[in-house]
Amino acid sequence: MSYIPASDRAKVTAPAIQARKGGEPIVALTAYDYPSARLVDEAGIDLLLVGDSVANVMLGYESTIPVTLDEMLMVSRAVRRAVSTSLVVGDLPFGTYHESVEQAVRSSIRFVKEGGVEAVKLEGGARRAAAVRAIVDAEIPVLGHIGLTPQSVHRLGGYRVQGKTIDAARALIEDALALEEAGAFAIVLEAVPAEIARLVTKRLSVPTIGIGAGPHCDGQILVYTDLIGLSFGHTPKFVRQYADTKAVIAGALSRYTLDVRTKAFPAESESYAVAEGMSDRLLEIDIESAGVSDERTA
Ligand code: KIV
Repeated sequence: MSYIPASDRAKVTAPAIQARKGGEPIVALTAYDYPSARLVDEAGIDLLLVGDSVANVMLGYESTIPVTLDEMLMVSRAVRRAVSTSLVVGDLPFGTYHESVEQAVRSSIRFVKEGGVEAVKLEGGARRAAAVRAIVDAEIPVLGHIGLTPQSVHRLGGYRVQGKTIDAARALIEDALALEEAGAFAIVLEAVPAEIARLVTKRLSVPTIGIGAGPHCDGQILVYTDLIGLSFGHTPKFVRQYADTKAVIAGALSRYTLDVRTKAFPAESESYAVAEGMSDRLLEIDIESAGVSDERTA
């Protein structure tokens, strides 16, 4: 598949993603601010997730649990301003859809109205089906997310690969079918064995988008900072790092530090000059002010 320039690309919509089931793989990535979203959109990435992973990778929290809807809204507004063709999906943070179906709908409407997203994602399977149905009924497309769901870290007891036993694999398929039935337009499968992801993908009529779920999904998603090598802390085995941005930035910062300390920066070409003929007048001011300070110190 060749690269299509931004000006020739059609706006990606949730139904367009749904229609990609079994076709050309869906390319998805997170983004968290104007520059990252500009680059993601210009690269022709189909689906841009304003992920709650912003909590760990951008805001320095230890998990995704603390991030609030207000924080997500600020991030999604910046992303929205940058995007012209990717589908922008907002990740509902922990606690904004767990209390009731009404709360789930209210949070999703805020995300769309105030954050400018075009769809929302939420974590969980069958037990979230009622919320998915209600959000879809409120005209907002929903992306499901099952397998390793980081917002459930305390219940799961850590970030572990899911669906490893026959019972767990069956439960995963049931969860996926419940989300599809509730109206999800696609489902993220996180950290599940490739063979299980293949089974789920085969059973569903909506696309699966994998992260650590092997090659059989209908699409793939990664975290932006992992892909460009700008993450701190543990990098999961499923990440492919395509650039070492951290090294590039660290190199630039140390050259800047050296240049300022050795007065190599700024150069004359990086400074503003006064208008022609002003230099002599400035010299006079310089001499006058030196005189004033001599009088003060006398
Ligand atoms: O927030 C996130 O980064 C996610 C992943 C599925 C990419 O939910």
